[in-house]
Amino acid sequence: MSASPLAGKRVVLGVTGGIAAYKAIEILRRLVDAGAHVVPIMTDAAQHFVGATTLSALASEPVQTKLWNNPTTAIPHTKVGQGADLIIVAPATAKSIAAYRMGYSHDLLQNTLIATRAPVVLCPAMHTEMWEHPSVVDNVATLRKRGVQIVEPEYGRLAGGDTGAGRLADPATILDIAERVVGPADLTGVRVVVSAGGTREPIDAVRVIANRSSGKQGYAVATEAVARGAEVTLVSTVGLPTPAGVQVIAVESAAEMQEAMERAAINHDVIVMAAAVADFRPVHAASGKIKKGDGVPEIVLQQTPDILAGIGARKRNDHVLVGFAAETANLVDNAKEKLERKRLDLIVANDVSASGVGFAHDTNAVTLLRPDAKPVEIDLATKREVARAIINAVVDIRNAR
Ligand code: C5P
Repeated sequence: MSASPLAGKRVVLGVTGGIAAYKAIEILRRLVDAGAHVVPIMTDAAQHFVGATTLSALASEPVQTKLWNNPTTAIPHTKVGQGADLIIVAPATAKSIAAYRMGYSHDLLQNTLIATRAPVVLCPAMHTEMWEHPSVVDNVATLRKRGVQIVEPEYGRLAGGDTGAGRLADPATILDIAERVVGPADLTGVRVVVSAGGTREPIDAVRVIANRSSGKQGYAVATEAVARGAEVTLVSTVGLPTPAGVQVIAVESAAEMQEAMERAAINHDVIVMAAAVADFRPVHAASGKIKKGDGVPEIVLQQTPDILAGIGARKRNDHVLVGFAAETANLVDNAKEKLERKRLDLIVANDVSASGVGFAHDTNAVTLLRPDAKPVEIDLATKREVARAIINAVVDIRNAR
């Protein structure tokens, strides 16, 4: 299993006083799950929103709140920041952003922020009027220029029933960005295109031939690639949340996916074909809705072009081509045959009949096969962990050239 780059890292999680402070608990839980050693710091105002006990119970060590009479160390204003590998402030209020911009070190969190050389990820959350106020805009721009990673708030429901920009980014997005900041940037400058989801082939104006692919594994590969510094395009049939920093091209049918992928193959270096492309499609799609009263229709099918095999046939020497093989029998033999026939550099074989594996699940178990390397088996793991193993193999293939 491939560990998160956050594993073993000392991460300070600063929580400031906004209603979104309750979401810091979810961020904390995810950091701990990723294997990080989490040092929580709360401001006085944060403690009006969530209890220090909750954070202490979930973190790797008790919450720190005090600059003075700190039970952990006599010099907390420098010790915490100096020991950190990463600092995340979530939520970051307008006041805490202003203080950080000015170096106004009035509390433990602000002291930690200016006594560190570790990267800082700032996750603002506030009402729209505050987020758009020129002072906040200016402070955020200055911090960004200094290299602080700003996780933009989302548009959505805010406290008090308002709706607008300012809602704390999703904890999953914050974790993705944290991993990106501390992880290896071994795909910097590399262009990666990933296809994801199942295609839908029209029968008539309302009906389609579809399949059970959720697109989750493809999205996980795109998320991991962007975390490693790649420029990523996702050619997708599904409406999952767009991973931060990824450009999505929405398609529906195999024909649309073929056009998008063949165009992308021209200016991308790594091509990952994770989509479940229909093998057959109706020869004619009726322009209107086929009427039930007209009797059972006869739908004549034709084979769709094999997108991956087509790209494989015209493969450049610098391309890395990755395919998937979803099988229910003879997993390795069938996958090897596809690896050769489609001229792939890597095939991700999964037995979709096993439990917890393949379509719609959040977990997967796969075998990675390459033309001249030993098969790598990944036991049941999250799709993100599988994605990490796939990207590790892609990096390995590029480095070996
Ligand atoms: O031959 P099979 O469909 O099992 O091959 C699976 C691999 O080929 C996947 O990577 C899938 O995205 C790709 N494929 C394709 N075009 C098709 C069928 C499959 O690119 N028409």
